[in-house]
Amino acid sequence: MADASKMTALVTGASRGIGLAIARELAGVGYNLALVARSEEDLKRVSDEIASEFAVRVKPVVADLSSVDSYSYIVSETVSAFGGLDLLVNCAGLAQLGSFAEVSPAQWDAIFAVNAKAPFFICREALPYLEQSAKPIIINIASVVGFKGYINQSVYSSSKHALTGFTKVLAKEVQPFGIRVHLISPGGVATDMVRKMRPDIKAEELLQPEEVAEIVRFLVTRKGTGTIDQFYLRRYTSLAFD
Ligand SMILES: NC(=O)c1ccc[n+]([C@@H]2O[C@H](COP(=O)([O-])OP(=O)(O)OC[C@H]3O[C@@H](n4cnc5c(N)ncnc54)[C@H](OP(=O)(O)O)[C@@H]3O)[C@@H](O)[C@H]2O)c1
Repeated sequence: MADASKMTALVTGASRGIGLAIARELAGVGYNLALVARSEEDLKRVSDEIASEFAVRVKPVVADLSSVDSYSYIVSETVSAFGGLDLLVNCAGLAQLGSFAEVSPAQWDAIFAVNAKAPFFICREALPYLEQSAKPIIINIASVVGFKGYINQSVYSSSKHALTGFTKVLAKEVQPFGIRVHLISPGGVATDMVRKMRPDIKAEELLQPEEVAEIVRFLVTRKGTGTIDQFYLRRYTSLAFD
């Protein structure tokens, strides 16, 4: 097992789905965790479960990432609890389904706030602490919709294109500080989000959240110096997200 003991990861969107699978995988590697979501009850439950199963320290940080105040709050809560920050995983996200003609400015703002604006400014808040880390890493969870365009997903797709574009620039801007930046862009993953948004897609065409988490584990444990910027991940038996 790779040794990440005494290292700290901040994972947003960790109360369920992909973020929860990533949190569990990181706990298995030995990271102490700050886990972010809005639902206090879910977050406390999963934090207690992970802490007892993996013998790591887990701090639930309840925050709504659509609020600008949350960016500094979640980073400062993490650093207060653990003394630093080594890994940031921006995973929280919201989807939308419906024709672009039906989208209101308020809906557009709500989705961009969580999917694009929050990761941008959380990275900025985290930067001074990542600069102090011996192994600093940022992983942003975008989507295949950050490259492709699927009908009725205009705002979701636009927001993930924004996150994808930001991550490309970020990787270059923080390279001088030795911070590795990775973008993971999954196709359909079997979570509440996809079950609500794409009930037409068969279960056998979906990835499991643990498959995304496995990529994260690879990225945080590998020893090489080669850069792997982007993972575009879809189920090999599925053409739904080609
Ligand atoms: N599922 C897929 O097919 C798929 C494919 C590609 C990419 N992705 C991306 O992967 C990420 C995770 O998706 P998922 O499928 O795991 O979704 P999910 O099951 O709906 O989980 C979303 C997570 O984000 C949190 N969250 C949502 N809005 C938030 C807010 N305003 N403030 C703080 N936390 C918030 C949720 O917690 P609370 O509700 O408690 O706040 C939850 O922990 C998203 O960025 C999504 O776009 C998903």
